[in-house]
Amino acid sequence: MNSFYTKEELNKLGLKSYGQNVKISRKASIYIPENISVGNNVQIDDFCMLIGGEKGIFIGNNVHIAFACLILGTAGVVFEDFSSLSSRSAIYSATDDYSGRVLINPTIPMEYKNIIKGRVIVGKHAVIGTNCTVLPDVKIGTGCAIGANSLIIKDLEDWGIYVGSPVKKIKNRKRDLIELEKRYTEKYNYGKKSRRGGCKNYIPIICPSFVWKVAS
Ligand SMILES: CC(C)(COP(=O)(O)OP(=O)(O)OC[C@H]1O[C@@H](n2cnc3c(N)ncnc32)[C@H](O)[C@@H]1OP(=O)(O)O)[C@@H](O)C(=O)NCCC(=O)NCCS
Repeated sequence: MNSFYTKEELNKLGLKSYGQNVKISRKASIYIPENISVGNNVQIDDFCMLIGGEKGIFIGNNVHIAFACLILGTAGVVFEDFSSLSSRSAIYSATDDYSGRVLINPTIPMEYKNIIKGRVIVGKHAVIGTNCTVLPDVKIGTGCAIGANSLIIKDLEDWGIYVGSPVKKIKNRKRDLIELEKRYTEKYNYGKKSRRGGCKNYIPIICPSFVWKVAS
């Protein structure tokens, strides 16, 4: 048993584009769907909130967004292929200014506020553990693994394992999975199939960061 939208329901969601084998929970909240692009083999679980925002959310192929995550796409959020976000994690591409110079929160008109913005990129094969927070203007490098309960406020180097608040690198991550990716991709060939049925304004998501550059 699952709570994923059927193909017909998915088609009515109004996403900018989506690929094959896309599983989005009916219990997820999807706002500004016209600014959200989803690749092939993507799963978005119950109680996630995705807000397309101005710049949008670009989700590549084989991406999992687990239970109760928040993704705020105001300044753009990119998930490259094979990346994952574990349960109860949040990615903010925009935040209120906490300095005390301005008022904050959505009840206040913009003229009294200052929004800090910056695109967030979750690199290919990166995995973010449970209960993590990512603040604006950060690139999580290819193959990074972020431990549970971590805070990410700066760019992270490729293939590092990071933990803490704010995160610090504790070791390098193994790269064996690259060979497995190759075997998987050759066997299933998913990424090469075109998107059909319900794709609107289709932009191929082969490399989401490339698409981002085109779209911005
Ligand atoms: C980060 C992580 C991958 C490291 O695992 P590991 O390589 O086996 O590392 P170790 O357990 O040997 O820990 C190495 C050090 O980092 C510390 N550490 C590990 N995870 C940590 C975390 N999340 N936060 C803070 N410190 C952490 C350990 O205490 C240890 O410190 P020490 O050397 O001072 O004793 C793992 O601990 C983790 O957090 N995984 C996330 C799992 C998750 O969120 N799953 C969600 C569903 S898929």
